[in-house]
Amino acid sequence: MSDETRDLPFGIDFGGSGIKGAPVDLEAGDFAAERVRIKTPQPSTPEAVAGVFAELLAGFDDSSGSVGVTVPAVVRHGVVSSAANIDASWIGTDADALFTKATGRDVHVVNDADAAGLAEVRYGAAMGRGGLVIVTTLGTGIGSAILYDGVLVPNSELGHLEIDGHDAEDRAASSVKELEGLSYPEWAQRLTVYYRTLERLFSPDLFVVGGGVSKDADEFMHLIGIETEIVPAKLENRAGIVGAALWAAEAGDEH
Ligand code: BGC
Repeated sequence: MSDETRDLPFGIDFGGSGIKGAPVDLEAGDFAAERVRIKTPQPSTPEAVAGVFAELLAGFDDSSGSVGVTVPAVVRHGVVSSAANIDASWIGTDADALFTKATGRDVHVVNDADAAGLAEVRYGAAMGRGGLVIVTTLGTGIGSAILYDGVLVPNSELGHLEIDGHDAEDRAASSVKELEGLSYPEWAQRLTVYYRTLERLFSPDLFVVGGGVSKDADEFMHLIGIETEIVPAKLENRAGIVGAALWAAEAGDEH
């Protein structure tokens, strides 16, 4: 690794099947070196995951910048306080402290959708957009990030809105599409109900649709019947790592 990558922030995307990381060039909004992926340990307890982070970072022995980590849960001041799709042992964990100790690096944890939202507003589909932007990630669950004039309001958790007596992500996440074998038009009907609800509650200026399915946007986004402008995310699977690195680089007392 060159001297240039030494002080760059490092982003880690902690997902259900893989833990991926790379140093990030914040001017370019992209990886500064090739991304490394390690399988997520099972069960994915905080301690087991901390071990993988240490292993991953050891592969970049010249990198010494601060480290951002995405977690698919509510995170306040480094402490995780929900566990919808992860091991229950995460609840109450001071993840910043645990990962800082395990890796010897300055680690800052952020909700996965919030990281994607930061990356999209800084470098992607919502770049330069003022007003109210809602970034949603459709995957195992539904994640959300609310940004006003580019500033993040963290932990919005709009995937757990109750709609027609259901947790929204149990009806409209892309994992549900797979599980129930829904066609794109069938799934788009559920997405329409979901985005209409968000529209009514927030009157946003823009929706950005992220998550793995954003690469298939042509298949379903035109079928979502809402008034608000809605566009696919641009960073695809780079959003988590880039957003986490941004979060770490800008970490201060406000986190
Ligand atoms: C979690 C959120 C997370 C989203 C996407 C939801 O079930 O509650 O914290 O952002 O899934 O992973």
